[in-house]
Amino acid sequence: MESKSAEPRKVLVVGGGGREHALAWKIARSPLVSEVLCAPGNAGTRADGRNVAVAADDLDGIVRLAVEEECGLVVIGPEDPLCNGLADRLRARGLAVFGPNADGARLEGSKLFAKELLERHRIPTGAWRRFDRAGAAKSYLETLSVWPQVIKADGLAAGKGVFVCADVREACGVVDTLMEEKKLGAAGDQIVVEEFLVGQEVSVQAITDGRALLILEPVVDHKQVGEGDTGPNTGGMGIYSPVPFLTQRLMRQIEQRVMIPILHALRVEEIDYRGVLYAGLMVTEAGPRVLEFNCRFGDPETQATVRRLSSDLVPYLLAAAENRLGAEEPPEWDPRACIGVVAAAEGYPGPYRKGDPIRGLEEAGACEDVVVFHAGTRTEGDAAVTNGGRVLCVTALGDELEDARTLAYGAVDKIHWNGMFCRSDIGRPRRRGPIFDEGADDAVEVAHGGSVEPGEGADGAPIA
Ligand SMILES: Nc1ncnc2c1ncn2[C@@H]1O[C@H](COP(=O)(O)OP(=O)(O)O)[C@@H](O)[C@H]1O
Ligand SMILES: [Mg+2]
Repeated sequence: MESKSAEPRKVLVVGGGGREHALAWKIARSPLVSEVLCAPGNAGTRADGRNVAVAADDLDGIVRLAVEEECGLVVIGPEDPLCNGLADRLRARGLAVFGPNADGARLEGSKLFAKELLERHRIPTGAWRRFDRAGAAKSYLETLSVWPQVIKADGLAAGKGVFVCADVREACGVVDTLMEEKKLGAAGDQIVVEEFLVGQEVSVQAITDGRALLILEPVVDHKQVGEGDTGPNTGGMGIYSPVPFLTQRLMRQIEQRVMIPILHALRVEEIDYRGVLYAGLMVTEAGPRVLEFNCRFGDPETQATVRRLSSDLVPYLLAAAENRLGAEEPPEWDPRACIGVVAAAEGYPGPYRKGDPIRGLEEAGACEDVVVFHAGTRTEGDAAVTNGGRVLCVTALGDELEDARTLAYGAVDKIHWNGMFCRSDIGRPRRRGPIFDEGADDAVEVAHGGSVEPGEGADGAPIA
């Protein structure tokens, strides 16, 4: 699993949230790496690398930094720079880049592009219609008898472009906000009206070089702000992995019906995709359905991924960047469970407080099997202060999910700032709808993962 060039290299992580801290933390532990640079990073990434004051969406600045520092690998965290062509520009300069070009990033950047691709390649997803005029959308909504319905703005909206509407009045209001008032700008010029799916939500991420797939351990992210999965959606309030309801049979279905076909679809479209394929899935009574694809690592999913990944991550990132992932051995996973509790600032996901000094970080980080990842923090002098809605993600490993929970919340109790809050039920999913796949086989306990060539299932059988 050694990289081709043994010389330790500088790695640049682009971004400054929790995902980027988790990536920097993991990458800094690799013997293949001499130094981690983070642009711009946060108060946490300082412990694992060198922060450089270049914003993730300053594409010129990032390219200049990567070239001047002779970075041997650039890992792009957020979706915006990917959609704006950062990977294309870095590759044009001959750099090794983990993250798709702008054509591949459309998978996340346009919900319509993704839906059309899914439909063309018969990848299971909710029934949907596209609209580019408010009048037509509202006339269609008037005809519907089944509610709720989901309305999605086509373009990037930083998690604020999806609306679950209880009735036609609410739905028409959303159409007006998006298409008449242009609340999300051009992102709402076109919309998708989608069937509401009932089931259990899960994130399945894979590293790919466009040919081989390395499916990572699945993670559940509690999206809603309130206890018991209630209230408005957020960027994610906490995570757990492994996922007890995902049986081996379901994982195989996801691999064969979703992950391999999407990779195949990208190839057919002649998209050279090197990075993460992140499937947001609803596991329904009728099987897994794609809610969306993201073109980068999940946040906060990645915090659990790096805690559970025992192997070095860097060989896979490099192999994906250099189109040779198929030659890598599958990684090893820690069999223990991970819980990550997001600590957020008062007001989140609405307008939130900023600039509050954070106390207790050292005590929390010293707890057994705990790592505290920073998300929305910055340094003021030597102290960390809050600087975002989701401020920290406190992760812990334990033999069982309950053990990890106890450890994670024990560490959370040591942290304090004015207005800090978190959910107290991370890792205890509200049971929604029927129980799927009961009795089919045992829950996935050991790591799933391995390189799979498209056109071939994990067991070598051709895909249907
Ligand atoms: N068809 C659907 N049925 C039920 N819930 C949905 C559906 N589509 C999206 N959601 C919910 O809305 C959330 C956000 O939708 P998603 O498509 O992931 O958009 P984004 O992450 O870009 O905001 C999902 O995590 C899921 O909880
Ligand atoms: Mg999503």
